[in-house]
Amino acid sequence: MMNNCKAIQISENIFWVGAVDWSMRNFHGYETERGSTYNAYLIVDEKITLIDTAKIDFKDELLARISSVVEPAKIDVIISSHVEPDHSGALKEVAALAPNAEIFTTNPNGLKGLTARYGKLNYKAVKAGDEISIGKRTLKFVPTPMLHWPDSMVTYCPEEKILFSNDAFGEHLATALRFDDENDLEIILHEAKKYYANILMPFGKQAQTALKALGGLEIKMIATGHGVIWRTHIDKILDCYKKWSAGEVSERAVVVFDSMWHSTEILARTITEAFAAKKIPAAFYDIKKTPLSDIVTDIFTSKYLAVGSPTINNQMMPTIAAFLCYLKGLRPVNHKALAFGSYGWGGQSIGYVEDELKAAGCEIILDKIRVANIPTAAQLDDITAKILALDV
Ligand code: FEO
Repeated sequence: MMNNCKAIQISENIFWVGAVDWSMRNFHGYETERGSTYNAYLIVDEKITLIDTAKIDFKDELLARISSVVEPAKIDVIISSHVEPDHSGALKEVAALAPNAEIFTTNPNGLKGLTARYGKLNYKAVKAGDEISIGKRTLKFVPTPMLHWPDSMVTYCPEEKILFSNDAFGEHLATALRFDDENDLEIILHEAKKYYANILMPFGKQAQTALKALGGLEIKMIATGHGVIWRTHIDKILDCYKKWSAGEVSERAVVVFDSMWHSTEILARTITEAFAAKKIPAAFYDIKKTPLSDIVTDIFTSKYLAVGSPTINNQMMPTIAAFLCYLKGLRPVNHKALAFGSYGWGGQSIGYVEDELKAAGCEIILDKIRVANIPTAAQLDDITAKILALDV
């Protein structure tokens, strides 16, 4: 496909050559309402170096941007920071055009992953502390295992004080403006939080280890794998990562429910308003109306979580089961939770919700709230009183 894509210079002889995915709305289940970018970087030094590629669908954009600076055949070094195909998808095509390029990846997981996907190429394995000279510049490799795949690594260029961070510190945000200070900071930070919550939440310990490893580095730019390049608000995103990886939560409640005939919804409203009466701001999410990725972003930094489901066929609603399955996989920390729901007979769903909340690592702070049929005013008053009496 013909295109007129051009590289964008981000520092002297360093270019952004990635792609903007304006229309992507679902990234393996994570709903990305603002699209994304697949950032790749070209360093023109004695050795022409490409850091990452792009999703295969965007190889023409990538190659056009590289070609606007140098012929792809002149690439000497390719750094593969991460095997996931949003970054490595066009590796084979780039390697075919630059057959002499050495491809640097972690050992053993990067090597295994790239070989499984793209076959034998000219791979060079690196480990923590390894560095290469590409002329005037040095590239130091810092593996960041399980941040968020076993193969992940970041690369630091001391002469430029640029950290090429791949998935870390990024966000799903399609924008024509490459830098943090050219975009709306509130939106970027919200999307960065959403990215952390949906991709990195299970790996807080690994994120803290990575932050320690990067702690001694002087950084004037973080060239991420998705979204904007940080050059002005570096301290802000690093502070956010410190808080997020530590599992910091605020005095806030999130109420998530599904309902069949509004009875569980009435309970959800009552619980939401009771938290508010306790001076704990509370968010109310009908699971049918808000994407899971947005709900877990709110839960991530909220101390309290209430989840409700009526009983259907002796089970919880499948919507709530899917939500709890997603939440459990994200291994949330430091949350206090309760289960609620109405039922016609049986009422097994509420116990199952509570079991899943426990399995997700939440501390149960109130006996499950079970109401047969339609809640009465007295029952609602009782629920309010129990929430108000919570010693939290
Ligand atoms: Fe952006 Fe884990 O890939």
